[in-house]
Amino acid sequence: MSLYALGDLHLHFQTQLKASGQLTDPLWRNHEHIFRTFCEELVRPDDTLLLAGDHSWGRTFSECEKDLEYILSLPGRKILLRGNHDMFWDAKKTPQLNARFEGKLFFLQNNFCSYRDYALVGTKGYTFEGPFYVNRKGIIVGWDQDREEQARKLVDREAARLRISFEEARKAGFQKFLMFLHYPPTSVLEKRSVFTDLAEEYGAEQVIYAHCHGTARFHDSLIGSFRGIEYRLVSGDYLRWKPLKIFD
Ligand SMILES: [Fe+2]
Ligand SMILES: [Fe+2]
Repeated sequence: MSLYALGDLHLHFQTQLKASGQLTDPLWRNHEHIFRTFCEELVRPDDTLLLAGDHSWGRTFSECEKDLEYILSLPGRKILLRGNHDMFWDAKKTPQLNARFEGKLFFLQNNFCSYRDYALVGTKGYTFEGPFYVNRKGIIVGWDQDREEQARKLVDREAARLRISFEEARKAGFQKFLMFLHYPPTSVLEKRSVFTDLAEEYGAEQVIYAHCHGTARFHDSLIGSFRGIEYRLVSGDYLRWKPLKIFD
């Protein structure tokens, strides 16, 4: 029984691609096929596969049906986290999604699920992504203050949702946690954030996140061990579509 994770499939079986990089980058060519092949090699029926958000380009549920069918057809128990592009998934309607896909998919939002004696907790998260103003040497010398203020509100909301997830797990008796975010836990301006603080407060052993695409963005946030917690990036293009084994 193993736990695997990967994020940012950005499926588009029914919709037009919106990211130009995904159209031209050879890394994205046939990525659905490459990911499926890896999953079929690695993921056993009793394994867990956590998909860390940005599942589909579809804007409505009906535009995502084929993408969800693809996910349903992958091996193992599938757990989905919300990404910034997952318009089909209204956070407030997560219970309805879980009822609709009961026994097939689990939507992780304001709840948790178990893996051995661990609780898998998580939320989309949020980080301020600029615009930044850089000098000739590429060093950030300023940023858009209004956007930063907006970002702070979204960060607060996501932190509250993450706390609900931790608390639900704790109420159920869990003491060991693996924490999942779609956005990186820190912005490029930060070394710590409310998300790293929550991970430390609850004693999460690992923080697993996605969202960072392209080599220029892979190191926007924490990777490796910081203050006793292991931070791992699982965006699909970073992993070259091979799901990362989080735990045996
Ligand atoms: Fe993404
Ligand atoms: Fe994203």
